[in-house]
Amino acid sequence: MAVDLLLGLQWGDEGKGKIVDVLTAKYDIIARFQGGPNAGHTLVFNGRKHVLHTIPSGIFHSEAMNVVGNGVVIDPVIFKKELDKLSEEGIDYRKNLLVSRKAHLILPTHRLLDAASEASKGKAKIGSTLKGIGPTYMDKTGRNGIRVGDIESPNWKKKYRLLADKHCTLVNFHQADIEYDLNALEAEFFDAIKTLQTLQFIDSEEYLFQAMKNGQPILAEGAQGSLLDIDFGTYPFVTSSTTTAAGACTGLGIAPRSIGEVFGIFKAYATRVGSGPFPTELFNDYGATMSRVGQEFGATTGRPRRCGWLDLVTLKYSCQINGVTQLMMMKADVLSGFDTIEICTAYEHNGEEISHFPFDIAPEFVKPIYKKFKGWKEDLTGMTTMTDLPQELLAYIDFIEKELDIPITIVSVGPDRKQTIFR
Ligand code: GDP
Ligand code: IMO
Ligand code: MG
Repeated sequence: MAVDLLLGLQWGDEGKGKIVDVLTAKYDIIARFQGGPNAGHTLVFNGRKHVLHTIPSGIFHSEAMNVVGNGVVIDPVIFKKELDKLSEEGIDYRKNLLVSRKAHLILPTHRLLDAASEASKGKAKIGSTLKGIGPTYMDKTGRNGIRVGDIESPNWKKKYRLLADKHCTLVNFHQADIEYDLNALEAEFFDAIKTLQTLQFIDSEEYLFQAMKNGQPILAEGAQGSLLDIDFGTYPFVTSSTTTAAGACTGLGIAPRSIGEVFGIFKAYATRVGSGPFPTELFNDYGATMSRVGQEFGATTGRPRRCGWLDLVTLKYSCQINGVTQLMMMKADVLSGFDTIEICTAYEHNGEEISHFPFDIAPEFVKPIYKKFKGWKEDLTGMTTMTDLPQELLAYIDFIEKELDIPITIVSVGPDRKQTIFR
């Protein structure tokens, strides 16, 4: 049985958590393949909102197994907080949450290094979530990292001490003014490690291989978005993992030929949190309305998300790199009441019109070219079928589908599980 992938096509926060939760009924296993607590995946059902950071978004379905894959980086402290919240909600996660032995651990000093590195960059900072993501993936590729499987062996603390001491030297090297109490951070870390040790650790690539062989349907859940990918994103304003489809292969141990459907999620407009180029960003009332109606604040950091028009140049690029087979359009309801809606269809680049994603999309290199659409007035949030949707929205959907040549199979009209229209 093939593994289906679900990933974000923009700069993250497209609504991946919501759709994974909606689709979980069709799958036996939900497996996160990259990222860590920089992610914030929001689920809304029965009038309650839940935000997950490291735990796969299938966890609220007791019949689905949830795997934290080898490509994920885990901060035991944040992980423990997530587990505690699940317990408060009455979720018995011990039976259906599995953690890959090959996943890397975020140490308290990785977080300090992230902060020191950002502080030393001044205005050029990435706008990192300060969760230690970059330094942890650096230690992974630098072959210095500590993995979940290590904490099963008695002398892992020696390795920890060496690495943490090295990190402290590096923090000082940055000469950033960062205050910290390492003893307190380490006490919290080792306490959280004890909780982590109560979970089921697995050789996840073997587990998933056997599940595939047994015909069990698997959905791989991505974090962040394609434009934050370490290779294909707006480098250096990116995260440190492979957020694109290839990341599911390395982050779960799945062969490329085992991939089935690739679900690409995008908002009906665009948002970005943190620094970096954003050609269609709006600084006017339209942007302010998207921010207010869409409640565009980071699920992890609470920072306001920058808002702008949908950008088909970036979307086409993301579909191409990921091999997207089905599209899902989120937050169409936020655009209700706009008199006009615009879509960027090409860039002006060195005096030429281009429709491919160039080396750099900073404002000095590209200027968006727009096509205007008539808006709609209707409130979409109670609509349940495609035939309910206003003609103007159907024309908007039709245009995007034709330009990308990929069907839009889900239109989301609100944050709740139930506010999902299947086509
Ligand atoms: P993720 O990181 O991709 O899982 O997305 P986030 O959870 O960070 O951000 C998506 C936000 O939009 C969350 O607050 C969701 O509850 C909300 N949301 C998801 N789908 C819709 C939708 O169709 N309409 C509206 N208005 N909100 C939505
Ligand atoms: P989800 O999974 C939106 C952004 C940060 C910053 C850059 C690097 O919820 O869609 P990092 O902490 O990874 O070193 O930050 O990436 N970023 C996200 N933006 N959604 C996310 O995850 C993000 N994870 C990281 O804001 O610009
Ligand atoms: Mg998010």
